[in-house]
Amino acid sequence: MLLQLLLAGISHAREPVSAVQYPAKITPEMLLGKKLFFDPLLSEDRQTNCASCHLFSHGGSYPQAKTPMHNGRKSRYNSPSVFNLSQNYPLGWEGQLTSMQAQMHSLVNKQAKMGLSWDNIENRLRQQADYNSRFTRLYPEGITRKSITQALVTYQLALTTPSPFDAYLQGDESAISEDAILGYELFKRYGCVSCHQGQKIGGNLLQKIGVIEPYAYDPDDSSQASLGRYNTTENEADIQVFRVPSLRNVAQTPPYFHDGSVSTLEDVIRLMARHQLGREIPVTDVTLIVAFLESLSGSPHPTLMP
Ligand code: HEC
Ligand code: HEC
Repeated sequence: MLLQLLLAGISHAREPVSAVQYPAKITPEMLLGKKLFFDPLLSEDRQTNCASCHLFSHGGSYPQAKTPMHNGRKSRYNSPSVFNLSQNYPLGWEGQLTSMQAQMHSLVNKQAKMGLSWDNIENRLRQQADYNSRFTRLYPEGITRKSITQALVTYQLALTTPSPFDAYLQGDESAISEDAILGYELFKRYGCVSCHQGQKIGGNLLQKIGVIEPYAYDPDDSSQASLGRYNTTENEADIQVFRVPSLRNVAQTPPYFHDGSVSTLEDVIRLMARHQLGREIPVTDVTLIVAFLESLSGSPHPTLMP
């Protein structure tokens, strides 16, 4: 028995994916970031907050292909989850953002999504007594774009979502169904794990969609979403290259792909097998892989929820 436990421990330690945990401690900085994340004061119309496009009831993402933005247009890309971001590197579908701080500055400076400049955000927050006292307690400089960013980043990095699969990885063999266990084995055997790996089961590589079998796209799409990383680098080799998405909570975040063009996991898995691995896989295996992906759903720490 002991030997079995030891062996189980050893084999899990060698897994190509690893578990996430809740933050050891919920800090005042996280809670300040939480207040900012849900505060529509950060938007010009005082109606949009970060969660308008990153819904906690939808795995931290958005239920439609593209998000409506403050500037009246639709976002170029499907909204990604804001959960489990700590090792998503780089950020953005094009991998265009090198840090969480850079993401926040890009969001505010473009004024496309929420429409408010840093000056306006700072001024609005400085008029709030509660923000003033909470900021000065945490940051010597008080309310500045830097401290606002820092609080928001700290909050988001605390949004880990331990799932039944994490319990399984840590040795609880009964935490997920037989089907999910078989699905995980298939996920490794087919080679999905070569791109979707690490603690976030993705999120840390840039890869082309259609590495083996070319993936068709609409050359007339005015959003140019399908050009992917090319939009950032203008290097032809980067056409259709995207950050490999993390698969945590993926069962909760349809529609899928950079453009939200695929609505079910079954279809995504078939497309992945065909275009990324060059093979058709039987429907029974698709079903098992879905069971595995469903075991990756969890929620942020209750204190960090809306
Ligand atoms: C109008 C919709 C909208 C609003 C409001 C919005 N976001 Fe986003 N967010 C998006 C979309 C769309 C993307 C994908 C952008 C890309 O990949 O180029 C994104 C990307 C991100 C990312 C990168 C995630 C990753 O894995 O690459 C983070 C972090 C993020 N948003 C945080 C925030 C924060 C913090 C706020 C509030 C200050 C916010 N968002 C407000 C739509 C929105
Ligand atoms: C060569 C790298 C690679 C391999 C192998 C691979 N993927 Fe992917 N996966 C990607 C990329 C890149 C995307 C993003 C595609 C896009 O948005 O157009 C993606 C997207 C996905 C998504 C959608 C996630 C979302 O939030 O939109 C799922 C689910 C997925 N893959 C599962 C799998 C499964 C299951 C396998 C094995 C059958 C697999 N992948 C094999 C690179 C890969």
